[in-house]
Amino acid sequence: MAILVTGGAGYIGSHTCVELLNEGQEIIVVDNFSNSKPEALKRISEITGRQFKFYELDLLNEVQLEKVFMENEIDAAIHFAGLKSVGESVTIPLRYYQTNITSTVILCEIMKKYEVRNLVFSSSATVYGMPERCPISEEFPLSALNPYGRTKLMIEEILQDLHKSDSGWSISLLRYFNPVGAHKSGLIGEDPNGIPNNLMPYISQVGVGKLEYLNVFGNEYPTLDGTGIRDYIHVVDLAMGHLKALKKILTSTGIEAYNLGTGNGYSVLEMVDAFEKATGVPIPYKIVEARAGDAAICYADPTKAKKELGWEAKFGVEEMCADSWKWQSLNPYGYEIKKKFIQV
Ligand code: UD1
Repeated sequence: MAILVTGGAGYIGSHTCVELLNEGQEIIVVDNFSNSKPEALKRISEITGRQFKFYELDLLNEVQLEKVFMENEIDAAIHFAGLKSVGESVTIPLRYYQTNITSTVILCEIMKKYEVRNLVFSSSATVYGMPERCPISEEFPLSALNPYGRTKLMIEEILQDLHKSDSGWSISLLRYFNPVGAHKSGLIGEDPNGIPNNLMPYISQVGVGKLEYLNVFGNEYPTLDGTGIRDYIHVVDLAMGHLKALKKILTSTGIEAYNLGTGNGYSVLEMVDAFEKATGVPIPYKIVEARAGDAAICYADPTKAKKELGWEAKFGVEEMCADSWKWQSLNPYGYEIKKKFIQV
């Protein structure tokens, strides 16, 4: 029995690979390294002491992807691969539709051909659009605010249609809240290209001195300190959620969406404070204008995942901050080893 992991070298993918290998699963990873590094795969083996099969390919390449199914006995796929920057998706929407949607359709077509009908899909809390209230449960109305969000929403709908057409499919749609933190070893973590868009990598890059200060996007939201509230979840908890979802889809059929969040909301300034306390590193910040399209408050009701998957988040903000910091301080340049230039 083997589990195909698409985008297994990425942030959430690599952490999930570690937990799958620790559980004794056989995995086959595919990745095109568009937003990840081969070094992450070496580190997965270093952490777990296990080897696994890897194919460097783009999911849009049907022929290469089919070869993976021909050469292996695959029982299920966990589909992480995709583009994930909101801002970029507004600039190059077609690339987002092509990469995220077309590749998922290709993957499902090949899965169908090889009679592999078990799928865990990386969705996002972004499918709730601007939520009217919190906590957010899975039955809340869905909408999209940008092309990235629309790809997640459209893929959820495509997978619903697929299940309607053939009830033999077993699909989990995992709606992630705000993944942060890193593996305890500090060997794998989030390694964004360029200047980070998201809060936690930005804070840790300020901590390590790569960025001067944090821009806090708005302090006039209707929250305790005026800054935006989110449901931050440790990436290892998130990875464990995939293992539980996998167990569920391998033993039943149907399609279900699950919120993967802690159920607790923290403001931007609370996260800055938690980071300073957990690491002893000061984070200078400036209040700037609110970012367009940001909700004031967004946190999950995670009871469905607890009830149906037997999953709940275990780590608190201290661990999230301490582990993000361990990764960032051990790897200030991410997976890239800083090259020393010798002038001659
Ligand atoms: C963002 C995306 C969301 C995506 C998620 C996971 C937007 C509008 N939303 O969610 O679609 O699913 O990432 O990748 O981009 N903040 C600052 N300064 C910063 C960065 C963030 O103050 O430099 C604030 C934000 O205003 C927000 C909070 O920190 O209140 C979290 O922001 P971020 O980490 O970008 O996540 P989301 O906006 O929740």
